[in-house]
Amino acid sequence: MILRWRRPRIGRGAGPLLLCAVLVAGGAGATSAQVTGGAQAPVEVGTRAPRPASSCQLCHGELEFLRQHASSLERAEELNISDRALRGSGHDFPCTRCHAGFGTFPHATAATETRTCASCHADVTARWQAGAHAQVERGKPVGCSDCHDVHTVPTRSGFRAASAVQTMNRRCLECHETRRLPAGGPHASDVPCAACHGAHDIRAHDQAGSRLSPADQGKTCGACHQEVAASWSRDAHGRAVLTGDVAREVSGGAVERPPTCTTCHGGHALVRPEEAAADSGPGAACIGCHAKYGDTFADSYHGQATRLGSRRAAGCAGCHTAHNILPADSARSSVSSANLVTTCRQCHKEATASFVAFQPHADVHDRAKSPLSYWTYKFMTFLLAGTMIVFGVHTVLWLARLGIGRIVEARKAARAAGSHGGDA
Ligand code: HEC
Ligand code: HEC
Ligand code: HEC
Ligand code: HEC
Ligand code: HEC
Ligand code: HEC
Ligand code: HEC
Ligand code: HEC
Ligand code: HEC
Ligand code: HEC
Ligand code: HEC
Repeated sequence: MILRWRRPRIGRGAGPLLLCAVLVAGGAGATSAQVTGGAQAPVEVGTRAPRPASSCQLCHGELEFLRQHASSLERAEELNISDRALRGSGHDFPCTRCHAGFGTFPHATAATETRTCASCHADVTARWQAGAHAQVERGKPVGCSDCHDVHTVPTRSGFRAASAVQTMNRRCLECHETRRLPAGGPHASDVPCAACHGAHDIRAHDQAGSRLSPADQGKTCGACHQEVAASWSRDAHGRAVLTGDVAREVSGGAVERPPTCTTCHGGHALVRPEEAAADSGPGAACIGCHAKYGDTFADSYHGQATRLGSRRAAGCAGCHTAHNILPADSARSSVSSANLVTTCRQCHKEATASFVAFQPHADVHDRAKSPLSYWTYKFMTFLLAGTMIVFGVHTVLWLARLGIGRIVEARKAARAAGSHGGDA
């Protein structure tokens, strides 16, 4: 209370001499929670008894006073740190927990010490040290306060609030301006950058340990898209990724790596399912890896309809699903013989067992798989070739006949002209 009594004098600028002996008791009421890892019980921020104003407020809450002692208004504003900034924040505790030796004024530089973030947040710091922001190739590392500031960190639950997400995303974009998500996209407004990239263990997406590495995408994207991720992790692609993301042979002969979420959907430039036409939406990716089935699909009724712009005709996912894709001989597969009628009935309400005998991937070159198409194709090819040959020969003979006729006519005319030449 002595300090409050002295306050007017400080305001007049006479403070320094009088105050140099004042011991500032800013540490009173400190709780001694230490954050060193998950094992420590967290401090319940909201349940702490209200703290008395810190003695530091006397000066650091008074911009006018600071102005008189700082080199510039800007500097005074930097020094203007009030208790209010900390109240309700993750650091709702006394200044002196972080700042030691500031009890006297002028602060004796040699006696003061500000604790580092690492000294209390060892586990987060360890994760950060292994990430891209601690190991920048050029320039300074991106430190804790570059993202968090120092005096206004939100509480753990506060990070999820929309306003905190926006603030943090803006932070990221101050340095990664070129990585803004396309406006209007589903992730652009309130999905935190950190939800996909992580906060401290950030690495480039193609580096081991990145949350966007193939093996981790199910978890990362699945934090918000649970059902899709659970289903993908059990289908042919997800299982393949999770049991060893290596290239393998697919039906049709190609050797490919199995797709993750971002293979089909892209990253920042997200491909949405409403762009589901086989040749532009997420299904377009299928064709890149399953070229043979892409070709046979393109020749099929559905393929031609989608190519002409139909959004109703089945694309790859229409029959195979998007995240529950299984080989045809698997009982759970949407294209297994047992499930095919149900699959076709999504669109062909009257589909029967004989209707589904239709081959979506009829291969005209494969006699064993598609005999009808094979022989029809052979017959049509024969018919076309035969027609071409007959008419070709006919045309050649006809042209020859025409040419010879012309020559004979011309000779006759010349002969006739020669026999009348003497009369001229
Ligand atoms: C009598 C007024 C006064 C009181 C009380 C006071 N400060 Fe200061 N403090 C100042 C002024 C003025 C400056 C800027 C000039 C300077 O650096 O010495 C300053 C500077 C600082 C700095 C910045 C040091 C630097 O070099 O960047 C810190 C940190 C600080 N004070 C913390 C505290 C804390 C913590 C308390 C409470 C325990 C406190 N101060 C109490 C007036 C005060
Ligand atoms: C969680 C720890 C923590 C708490 C609590 C804390 N500070 Fe700080 N403060 C810091 C760190 C870290 C810095 C940056 C030091 C540096 O840049 O060297 C800092 C910087 C400052 C500065 C200098 C600002 C500048 O731009 O140079 C002042 C003044 C200051 N703190 C005052 C306070 C006051 C007053 C309180 C209580 C109301 C307080 N701090 C509470 C950690 C803390
Ligand atoms: C004196 C120890 C100490 C220092 C130094 C310290 N913190 Fe904290 N920090 C804490 C405590 C205690 C909490 C509250 C933990 C809780 O409620 O679980 C906390 C909470 C946080 C939170 C909020 C998340 C949460 O768990 O509620 C963030 C973010 C944070 N600190 C970042 C920093 C940064 C950045 C620095 C350095 C500028 C720093 N801390 C320095 C002790 C410290
Ligand atoms: C690139 C920006 C960035 C940097 C650098 C950064 N953080 Fe964070 N930090 C975040 C984000 C974003 C969150 C919120 C994470 C969430 O919502 O899960 C967070 C959350 C936290 C939390 C609370 C949740 C948790 O994971 O325990 C603490 C404590 C914390 N950071 C401390 C630190 C410390 C200490 C450093 C420096 C070693 C640091 N941060 C560096 C962005 C950053
Ligand atoms: C203060 C500037 C700064 C802030 C703030 C910042 N970054 Fe970075 N970030 C960098 C720098 C510098 C690198 C390292 C680039 C390098 O090494 O070439 C980097 C690297 C990365 C990388 C790895 C990319 C690569 O090419 O290696 C990702 C991903 C990333 N940051 C995402 C984020 C996210 C998400 C946030 C916000 C939570 C964020 N950054 C905040 C400056 C920043
Ligand atoms: C839905 C998940 C998601 C969100 C949200 C997201 N990113 Fe990305 N980010 C990715 C993917 C996937 C890549 C790699 C492919 C690409 O570039 O599209 C990437 C690439 C990057 C890179 C280049 C480094 C690398 O890993 O290749 C940076 C930097 C980056 N993002 C920053 C940001 C920032 C900043 C935000 C927030 C404004 C953000 N990202 C939001 C998924 C996301
Ligand atoms: C923090 C939560 C979050 C994370 C993490 C996340 N998303 Fe999303 N995603 C959303 C939200 C919210 C929407 C918008 C939902 C809507 O429009 O129905 C969305 C929409 C989408 C859509 C469009 C859906 C539609 O019907 O148009 C796709 C595709 C998508 N996300 C893929 C991904 C992928 C791939 C990843 C991982 C790289 C990912 N998401 C990570 C929250 C998230
Ligand atoms: C093999 C390509 C492929 C992969 C891998 C893939 N998707 Fe999809 N995804 C699609 C297609 C195609 C659609 C459109 C489905 C439709 O139209 O019925 C879709 C639709 C979506 C939708 C919106 C509709 C819905 O079902 O909610 C979301 C969200 C989504 N995918 C997220 C993801 C996530 C997250 C992953 C990874 C766990 C993932 N996708 C993996 C191709 C894929
Ligand atoms: C990045 C390449 C890639 C993409 C894109 C892709 N696949 Fe696959 N697909 C594979 C691989 C690799 C396997 C084999 C998995 C295994 O053997 O475990 C496979 C397996 C399958 C199977 C099981 C039968 C077989 O050939 O082994 C079907 C059916 C299938 N994919 C359909 C699709 C559909 C439909 C799409 C688009 C929605 C698609 N795929 C997108 C690579 C891909
Ligand atoms: C996503 C919806 C969808 C699914 C699933 C689907 N089709 Fe179709 N199919 C269509 C549409 C739309 C047409 C074009 C109808 C029209 O406009 O004439 C079509 C046309 C056809 C035709 C030629 C015209 C006709 O109506 O007879 C056959 C044959 C056919 N589909 C068979 C199948 C079989 C077999 C399945 C299951 C393996 C199947 N379709 C699954 C939407 C679908
Ligand atoms: C009208 C439904 C339908 C459409 C559309 C469709 N398929 Fe199929 N697909 C099937 C059926 C039925 C089978 C099983 C019979 C067969 O192999 O011909 C199959 C088989 C496959 C197989 C081999 C599965 C195995 O177990 O060996 C792959 C790979 C495949 N399709 C990929 C695709 C791709 C890629 C597309 C889009 C370009 C596509 N399909 C479009 C119905 C469809």
